[in-house]
Amino acid sequence: MQRESGEKALGAAALASVGQSLPHDSAIRHVSGSAVYVDDIREPAGTLHVVPGWARDATRGRILSLDLDPVRAHPGVVAVLGPSDVPGKNDVSPALGDEPMFAEEEILFWGQPLFAVVATTREAARHAARKARIEVEDLPPLLTVEDALAADETVLPDYQFRKGSPETGLATAGHLMEGSLRIGGQEHFYLEGQVSLAVPGEDGDMFVHTSSQHPSETQHIIARVLAVPDAAVTVEVRRMGGGFGGKESQANHWAAIAAIAARATGRPCKLRLDRDDDMIMTGKRHDFRVDWKLGHDAEGLLRVVDMRLFARCGYSADLSLGVVDRSMFHADSSYYYPDAMIHSRRLKTHTCSNTAFRGFGGPQGMLAAERMMDALAIRLGVDPLDLRKRNFYREGRDVTPYGMKVEEHATLHAIVEELEESSDYRLRRDEIAAFNASSPILKKGLALTPVKFGISFTLKHLNQAGALVHLYTDGSIHLNHGGTEMGQGLFQKVAQIVAEEFGVTLDKVKITATHTGKVPNTGPTAASSGTDLNGMAAKIGAETIRGRLVAFAAERYQVAPDAISFAGNRVQLGERSMTLGELAREAHLARIQLSAAGFYATPNITWDRPSASGRPFFYFAYGAACSEVTVDTMTGEMRVDRVDILHDVGHSLNPAIDIGQIEGGFVQGMGWLTTEELVWDDRGRLRTHAPSTYKIPTASDVPEDFRVALYASAGNPSPTVYRSKAVGEPPVMLAISVFSAIHDALANLNPGAIPDLDAPATPEAILHAVLSMKRSRAG
Ligand code: MTE
Ligand code: MOS
Repeated sequence: MQRESGEKALGAAALASVGQSLPHDSAIRHVSGSAVYVDDIREPAGTLHVVPGWARDATRGRILSLDLDPVRAHPGVVAVLGPSDVPGKNDVSPALGDEPMFAEEEILFWGQPLFAVVATTREAARHAARKARIEVEDLPPLLTVEDALAADETVLPDYQFRKGSPETGLATAGHLMEGSLRIGGQEHFYLEGQVSLAVPGEDGDMFVHTSSQHPSETQHIIARVLAVPDAAVTVEVRRMGGGFGGKESQANHWAAIAAIAARATGRPCKLRLDRDDDMIMTGKRHDFRVDWKLGHDAEGLLRVVDMRLFARCGYSADLSLGVVDRSMFHADSSYYYPDAMIHSRRLKTHTCSNTAFRGFGGPQGMLAAERMMDALAIRLGVDPLDLRKRNFYREGRDVTPYGMKVEEHATLHAIVEELEESSDYRLRRDEIAAFNASSPILKKGLALTPVKFGISFTLKHLNQAGALVHLYTDGSIHLNHGGTEMGQGLFQKVAQIVAEEFGVTLDKVKITATHTGKVPNTGPTAASSGTDLNGMAAKIGAETIRGRLVAFAAERYQVAPDAISFAGNRVQLGERSMTLGELAREAHLARIQLSAAGFYATPNITWDRPSASGRPFFYFAYGAACSEVTVDTMTGEMRVDRVDILHDVGHSLNPAIDIGQIEGGFVQGMGWLTTEELVWDDRGRLRTHAPSTYKIPTASDVPEDFRVALYASAGNPSPTVYRSKAVGEPPVMLAISVFSAIHDALANLNPGAIPDLDAPATPEAILHAVLSMKRSRAG
C-alpha cells in the first residue's frame, strides 16, 4: 500500500488537491482573530484560574518551611495545592520520574513550582501566589557546563559513536587542528504561551483542552497524577499558537496542574502561564560547548574527526536523550569522516530543563561541523565552499559516523551546484573581496552551507500514526488524526491528501481537533514527521472507504472497478456519473461501513541504540543557503544583505506552505544564531525573561533580498506520501550560512587567523571577535 501511494505520486501532474498552493485552512481566522485558541474557548460557568507559585529567591536549596496560610487568606482564593494534594504520583516527567509537579524537599532551579493557587480570577491567583512564606537553605548550584563537568553530574549516561579507529586516524593524519565552540540556547517564544483548561466530568472523568504537541502523553501524565485510568482522561488540541518543540513535553506540567485543580475544586480550571513565568519555568534549546579535533591531508580532505559534545540539560532528563543523540547524528553535517569519535555528555545543572526545539539538537551538531569547515578553510587559505564540496558524502565515501549509508548524495551535490550558480557565488566572492579591500570599517562576508537532516524519530516506536475518517451520506468528510496543528500547515496538507483520495474539493473535508478519544496512543507531532506519518495514515483510512465504495458500486452498476473514478466532487461509474454524496447514500442503504481508521508505521528503520547500529532515518531532507552579511567592525552591528535558498521537499504537497516553513525556519534559525541571547546571572536567575530583554527576529529582520526556491525534485526516493519530504525543521539549519558569513567577514581583519566567534553572534560577540582578531594581529 505504501509503495502504491508513492508510485501513483510519480504521475503527480494529474492531481487536483495534492501539490496545490492552497492557503492554510485557518489562514483567514489567524489574521482576523477568529481562530480559537485555548484561552479563547468560552469559559464554562464557574471556571477558576490557576497560577503556579515558586520561590523567587531560591536557585537550589532545601525547603525548610512553606507557609501557605497568607496565600489562602487572599481574597478570591478557592484552593491552594501542594505535593500532598496530588491524588496520584507527584511527577510530570515523560518517563524517568525526575520532574516533580511540585518540588517537595529540594528546589532544583530558579522558577520551579512549589504549589498552585486556584482563585476566582487570574489576577487574584497571581497576587496570592506571591504571598507564600518560604524558607530555604541555599545549596550551591551547578550552573554552567564547566560546573557540571567539574562535579561530574549528568542527567543521563554518556553516549558515543565510534567509526573506524579515531586513534589511528589522529596518529597518522598529516595535519591536526582543534578548537572549541560555544553555542547558545533558544527560547521558543511561541506567541501563545502554555495554557490548559481542565473540565471535570462525572465519575472522575477529566476533559482537557490544551496547547500540547503530544496530547497522548499529556493524557497519560494527567491520568498518572489523578490516579485514574487513561480512559478517564480526554485531551483535545485544536491548534497551538506555535509550539516549536516547546510543547512536546513541556505542556504536560501545566495541563496536569489544571487537572488536579479541577479535581480538587470540582470546577473547570484554567492555567495560562504569565509570559515571564513561562520563560523562567520552561525549558529551552540546549546550549552546548563543543570541543573538536580533526586530522586532514594537505588538500583539506578530512581523515578523522573527534568531537565532544557537552550539552547543558538542566535539572532533569526531559527529552535530552533524543535531543543530544540528534546532535550526534548531525555532527557530520554533509561531510564524510573516514574515522570518527562523536562523544556526548548530558550535563545536569540547576536550571530549567532544556527540551525539544526545532531541529531537536541537530542544529547544534551541524553548527560545530560547519565551524570546523570554516576554520580549516582559513588555515588552508582555500575557499570554504571548495573545502565543503571536497568533503561531501559521495559514492564510496558515504558511510556516516553511526554506520548508516547516505544514499542520496547526488541530491546534495545537485542542490549545492545549482545554488552556487543561481546565487552567483563566485562572482560575488570577487566583488566582496574588492569591497573589503577598500572598506576599513565595514566588512562583508559570504557563505554557502549545506543541510542534510535525518527524517524519522530516532526512538523507533514513535514512527507510527493513526487517523479516523468518516464519510457522511451527504458526501462530506470528517477528518481526524493524531497529529497536532501548531501553524505548520499539517491539517491543511492532510486534508489535501484526503480530498485527493475522494476527488472532492477542500470544502467537503472537515478538519477536526486532535482528540485522544478518536485516535489513541499517538506520538508527539515532532521530528518534522507530522505529514509523513499522519498524512499516510489518513490516506490509508480514506483508501479503505473508497475501496468499499468501489466494490459496492462495481457490483451494483456492473462496471469494472477501474472504470470507477472520483473527481470534481463526483464519481464516474463507466458512463454513469453521480455525486459522492449520492453514492455514499446508496452505499449506506446497502449497509456499507463509511468510516475507517488508518494506521501507518514507517518501514525500513532499524536503529538499535545500545549497539549504535542500524538505520535511524527513513531518508534525509536536503537544502543549501547562501548568505551575505555586512559587519560593522566598530560597533559589532550586523546586517544580512541577501539570502538565497534552495531546499528539497521532494514532491511538494503544498508549495506555498512549504515555502512558508522554509522562510520561517530560516528566520527562526537566524534569530538563534544572531540576536536571541539567554543570560543567566551568577545565581542562576534567568535575566532574559521578557521580550524587553530577549530579542527575537521581527519582520524588519527578514533579509531585504530573500530568494527562496524549491529544488525541482524527482520525488523522494523513499516511498513517503506522494513522495514528499518533511520540511518543518530542516530549514532552521539553513541559517548556519549567516553565522558562517559573519565568521567570513571577520576573517578579513587578520588573514590566516581564525575569528573567536561563539553563537549567538550578537553585536557584543562580534565585537569580542573583532578585538581578538586585532589583538592577535598586533601580538
Ligand atoms: N511552524 C509553525 N508555524 N509553528 C510551529 O510551532 N514547529 C516546528 C515546525 N514548524 C512549528 C512550525 C517543529 S519544531 C516541528 S517538529 C514541525 O513543525 C512539526 O510539524 P510537522 O511534523 O507537521 O512538520
Ligand atoms: Mo520539533 S523540535 O521536533 O517539536
